[in-house]
Amino acid sequence: AEYEMILTEVQGAAGVIRLNRPQAMNALCDQLMDELGQALHAFDADPAIAAIVLTGNDKAFAAGADIREMQPRSWPGTYLNDFIAPWEAVLGVRKPVIAAVAGFALGGGCEVAMMCDILLAADNARFGQPEIKLGIVPGAGGSQRLTRAIGKSKAMEMVLTGRMMDAAEAERTGLVARVVPLAELLPEAVALAQKIGELSPPAVAMAKEAVNAAFELPLREGLRLERRLFLSLFGTEDQKEGMAAFNEKRKPSFRRG
Ligand code: HXC
Repeated sequence: AEYEMILTEVQGAAGVIRLNRPQAMNALCDQLMDELGQALHAFDADPAIAAIVLTGNDKAFAAGADIREMQPRSWPGTYLNDFIAPWEAVLGVRKPVIAAVAGFALGGGCEVAMMCDILLAADNARFGQPEIKLGIVPGAGGSQRLTRAIGKSKAMEMVLTGRMMDAAEAERTGLVARVVPLAELLPEAVALAQKIGELSPPAVAMAKEAVNAAFELPLREGLRLERRLFLSLFGTEDQKEGMAAFNEKRKPSFRRG
């Protein structure tokens, strides 16, 4: 596909999507989000891809929804034609999505990063929900996902004041899995995707489903789902292979696709 606002690239089993509107700090306009949805869908459907890496540039992952595009919008037009609805494309991806965040991840940029499954941060990353300074509030999950990730008091402080968090605080509070030097951000994210690519595809898909269910289901239902997924994997060749390889002290060779 031809894209104008993103770049896509395959590195081994990793499908890399780079947000590419550097002149606007990767502000997430309608066209960019439409292209992102298409690229995510294409990689999700490609059996050669094990995991997707979503990144920006050194200055910005994304500085939020496009304020120029939003400024003239009015209610009830915003309600009848919900411009945030297409953003949920990220949530429909069944393969792991790794956000590799350098620079600013603000507003909708922070929200898109939090829709991803694993967040890696460069040491210059800054996270924030500055919507309040524009007279609005987060609209793509910021109030919910940030609160679940870092707890009520810190989330309240950030959402109520727009204060940014640096990479060290993001790691300390559990928002990101790891902080790495800027130059190593993309290689680390691709290596993580590669590692996932060596594992059993159905086990990976079910692992993602199970962890995500922890955010949606009461504990009892989550445990039931986990148990069903766990037991169902004994129907795969990969379970036989994984356990045989361990017992024979060799590397497993899982099926792809
Ligand atoms: C449109 C943006 C933008 C944005 C930056 N730009 N962020 N354009 N929408 N969200 C543009 C600037 O207008 C400028 O364009 C260029 O990118 C460079 O930005 P500067 O401000 O000159 O850079 P700098 O001084 O380094 O400051 C960087 C920044 C600042 C701290 C990231 O740009 C900033 O505060 N941006 C807005 C952050 C924000 O409020 N995000 C939340 C948006 S609301 P020109 O043409 O002047 O060079 C939101 C709602 C989500 O996300 C709710 C549901 C999705």
